[in-house]
Amino acid sequence: MKITRTTHPKQKPEDESNLGFGRIFTDHMFIMNAVDGVWDEGEIIPYGPLSIDPSSTVLHYGQEVFEGMKAYKTEDGRTLLFRPKDNFERMNISAARLCMPELNVEYALSSLVNLVKLDEEWIPKQAGTSLYIRPNMFGNDAKLGVNSAHNVVFNIILSPSGAYYAGGLAPTRIFVEPEYVRAVRGGMGFTKAGGNYAVSMLAAHEAHLKGYDQVLWLDGVERKYVEEVGAMNMFFLFKDELVTPALQGSILAGITRRSVLQLAKDMGINAVERKLSIDEVVDGVKSGKLLEAFGSGTAAVISPVGELNFHGEKLVVGDGGIGEVSQKLYDTLTGIQYGRLEDKHGWTYEVK
Ligand code: PLP
Ligand code: COI
Repeated sequence: MKITRTTHPKQKPEDESNLGFGRIFTDHMFIMNAVDGVWDEGEIIPYGPLSIDPSSTVLHYGQEVFEGMKAYKTEDGRTLLFRPKDNFERMNISAARLCMPELNVEYALSSLVNLVKLDEEWIPKQAGTSLYIRPNMFGNDAKLGVNSAHNVVFNIILSPSGAYYAGGLAPTRIFVEPEYVRAVRGGMGFTKAGGNYAVSMLAAHEAHLKGYDQVLWLDGVERKYVEEVGAMNMFFLFKDELVTPALQGSILAGITRRSVLQLAKDMGINAVERKLSIDEVVDGVKSGKLLEAFGSGTAAVISPVGELNFHGEKLVVGDGGIGEVSQKLYDTLTGIQYGRLEDKHGWTYEVK
């Protein structure tokens, strides 16, 4: 693969306690183009702006999908990825739904590994930080007819990042959205398509104005069943079970979600995927049956929920703090990701 190194390396962040999320980018990026479904071999080039025609498909019709994963630095200096093939496999599911070509998963992973190795010095080391990895694919024909593009661009960029939420593991406040919907079955809610995030922005903006961090979406038909939050899947710990909404086509099949289900089972917790109504959650808060709630995601990791607001009613989950099980799952998951705990399931992938 062709690698063109930058002649102007950027200053790496000195203060790793203040990286924020997705604001700083490394020196290089990977880029690969497909014409009529056939990919070229791609290349690594200096990080910089892309030049696209103003009539490009992605700008008008939003033919775009992306992924999110991380590279972690271990205490002994190794670099680990977490279930990276799952991300590229999911990208293929998203791409197929938006009529874009499949990636060769092995090739995409080896391209990523080359890129991470080249920019390895950018991986932050401070506890809780990581190198956020953002693969992206978009349709790029210079014409205004509504067709899936013949020309497709795939790229990977890297961003040294801290916690996704400014508060870190501090409990989030979530607004249960009663009116707007994110996705319906048969649509593209199960993909990581930019359009799913565009459609969520107004609700998130209005929730922020009311003092909430994120929106919890309900199903698009009855507005009755819990779906997911803007950037994470949801888990609810009741006295006798840990519930996450079943995958029915309108929510993302989170890789963290999949991992949490396994880790919970390993801990002897009765973890189930099923339909969960918002009424059951509200009743659980009121009766004390609901002990904890948390979101799961690559960027969000495990993010405890301290308060839900449903139709103006403030519902404090548990004691409003970080629940015991949420903390244990956070410690176990990050322990595996940062190489501190044994990786019994073979989830980590060493970059070398
Ligand atoms: N749901 C949505 C809408 C997301 O954007 C994300 C983040 O990627 C998730 C769930 C969690 O998925 P994962 O655990 O694979 O990061
Ligand atoms: C991730 O968790 O990787 C995401 O993609 C979430 C988000 C920043 C959209």
